[in-house]
Amino acid sequence: MCGIVGYIGNENIKEVLVDGLRELEYRGYDSAGIAVLQDDEIHSYKAVGKLKNLEEKTKNFTPHTLGMGIGHTRWATHGKPTEINAHPHLGEFSYVVHNGIIENYQELKKELQAQGVKFLSQTDTEVIVHLFEQNYKLLKDPMKAFEATVERLQGAYAVLLMTKVDADRIYFAKNGSPMIVGNDQNGDIYFGSSDAALIGKASEVIYLDDGDYGYTSIKEGITLFSDGKEKELNKKALVGDRVSAQKGGFRFFMEKEIYEQSEVLADTVMGRALDEKIAFEELDPNFFDGIEDITICACGTSYNSGLACSYLFERQAKIRTSVEIASEFRYKDPLLNPKTLFVVISQSGETADTLEALKMARDAGLKTLAICNVDNSSIVRISDYTLLTRAGIEKGVASTKAFATQVMVMWMLSLYIAQHKKTMTQEQIKAEIEAIRHIPQAVKVNDKLHEKVKRLSKRYLHGHGFFFIGRDLFYPLALEGALKLKEISYLHAEGYPAGEMKHGPIALADSNLFTIALMPKNIHYDKVKSNVEELSARDATILAISPERFELADDYVHTYYSDHAMSEFFEMMVVTQLLALEISVRLGNDVDMPRNLAKSVTVE
Ligand code: M6R
Repeated sequence: MCGIVGYIGNENIKEVLVDGLRELEYRGYDSAGIAVLQDDEIHSYKAVGKLKNLEEKTKNFTPHTLGMGIGHTRWATHGKPTEINAHPHLGEFSYVVHNGIIENYQELKKELQAQGVKFLSQTDTEVIVHLFEQNYKLLKDPMKAFEATVERLQGAYAVLLMTKVDADRIYFAKNGSPMIVGNDQNGDIYFGSSDAALIGKASEVIYLDDGDYGYTSIKEGITLFSDGKEKELNKKALVGDRVSAQKGGFRFFMEKEIYEQSEVLADTVMGRALDEKIAFEELDPNFFDGIEDITICACGTSYNSGLACSYLFERQAKIRTSVEIASEFRYKDPLLNPKTLFVVISQSGETADTLEALKMARDAGLKTLAICNVDNSSIVRISDYTLLTRAGIEKGVASTKAFATQVMVMWMLSLYIAQHKKTMTQEQIKAEIEAIRHIPQAVKVNDKLHEKVKRLSKRYLHGHGFFFIGRDLFYPLALEGALKLKEISYLHAEGYPAGEMKHGPIALADSNLFTIALMPKNIHYDKVKSNVEELSARDATILAISPERFELADDYVHTYYSDHAMSEFFEMMVVTQLLALEISVRLGNDVDMPRNLAKSVTVE
C-alpha cells in the first residue's frame, strides 16, 4: 500500500521521484512526500492527499546538478493521514522513508525519549531516523550506525535513509517488505518498492532479499550486505512496460490481488489486533453504548462479507444482526430503530444503493458505521464512524482482496463488541487474536495449489451450472464463490446453504451439475458431508474443498488450516477465487474487465 522511491544521479531529482511515485499510485495512499539532498542541504516537501498536491507544493523547487532524493506515498496505519505523519521523517540531520511496520517501535521510542529525543509524528517509522542519529553520535561512522540501527528493528521494513553526515550515499535495508535497487547505463541509481517505479529508468536491478542492507553512491555503485558480510550483486535485466509492471508480473490484476491478500490482511490487522485485545482508534470508547442490535447493508460481494460476519456478531458478540441488500432495503419501508447500529460495507464507498440506504438510516437517527476501502469516499464522508479495510486499490472488477479485508475488519469488530459486552473471556479473545494473526499465512497462495486449481479448471468449463454449497459462515462464502465465478466466467453459478438443497435445487442434480462443496472441519462437517452424499447419489459432479479427504468427490482440493473455522474460511476463499480465475482464463474471457460490469456502481 505504501510506496518508496529513491534516486541518485544527474537528472531532475524532483521529477524522477514524483514520476516514480506516480507509478506506485495504484497501490493506494493518502499522503506523499519527497526529500532531496543537494549541496549539503536537505529540501523536504510533504502533502496530504494526491500527488498533485505534492507537485503544487514543489512547483518552485528546481533541483540542479548531481544529487539524491527519497520519496514515499503513505497509506496511514500508525497515526492519521496528516503532513506530520507523512514520510520522509526527519531527525536532526537525516531523513528516512519506510514501508512495513516496526513492531518494537514503542520500546525503541521509550528508549529514545529517555535519551531526550523529541518525536514529531505518531508513526512507527520515526524511531528509525532517531535511532540512526543516536547510533551515529556514539559510533561516528554512518555505516556502522546504520547497521546498528537495522539490528534493533523488529517487524517488516523496507527503509531508505539519507544523512548530511554522508551526503553521497543512500542507505537501505529490507526485511519482509519489498525493495528493489537498480541502475541505468549512466550509473544513475534508482530504488523502488515495486519494479513499476523503475521500469523505463533502470536497465538492471537487484531484488533485495530479507536481511539485505547496504548503501549506494554514484562513485561506489551498490554495496550490499547480509549477516554482516558483503554479498555478491545478483543483477537482472529489467524489461517490461509500465502497465504490466503495475500488475507485478501477474497476468491479471485480479490474480495479483488474490496473491496480495496475505500482505493486505497483515495491513488490515496492524495496530488493531493487539496482544490482549482488539483496538480501533477510529471508534470512541462509548461507541457501542445504547446499541441494541445491528443492521448490515451492502451490495454484491460486500453483502456476502456482511452476511458471513453476521454469524460472528451473533455468536461472539451476542448481538442480534440482520443483513440487508441495499437495493431492496431502500424501497421496503424498513422499520428503523434508533438503537440499531447501521453498518454499511463498500469497497468503493460510492455504490449508489448503499449510499442511499445509509442516508435513510442517518436521517432516521441511527448511529452509522462504514466498513470501506476508500477514504474520503461519499460513504465515508456521510457515516458517523469508519473502519478502513486497508486493501489498497482494487482494480479487478471481481472483488477479491476487498472481500477478504472486509471480513477481517468485521471479525475484529465482533471481538471488539464482545470485549465491550463481555460476552467472551479474555482467554477466548486471545485465542481469536492468535487465529487472526495467522490468517496472512493461511491465504498465501502456494504454487502447488494454484497449479492444481489450474489443472482442475479444464474439467469445469461446460455443464449446466454450478452449485457452491456450505453451511454457517461457509454459506455466504459459497455465495461469494458463485458470484466470483459467474462474474468472470459467464457460467451459471449459485450459492446455496448445503441443507437447503433437498428443498428444491437437488432436482437439478445430474452428472452435468457441478457442485463445489465447502467442507470445513470446524463447522458442521458431518452435516455438510451428508448433504454432499445426497448430491453424489444423484450423480452430481463434486469438487470437495476440505482438509478431510472425501471419498465420494470427483475432485478434491486439500486445505491445511483446520485449527480454526476462520482459517478454513480464508483458505477456502482463496481456492474459490483461483477456480473462478482459471475457468475464466480457459474460456478466454476478460478477467479484469468482464462484460456488462463496472467496478463501481454509482447509479441505481
Ligand atoms: O464498492 P462496493 O463494495 O460497494 O460494490 C458492491 C458491488 O457492486 C461489488 O461488490 C460487486 O458485486 C463486485 N463486482 C463483486 O466482485
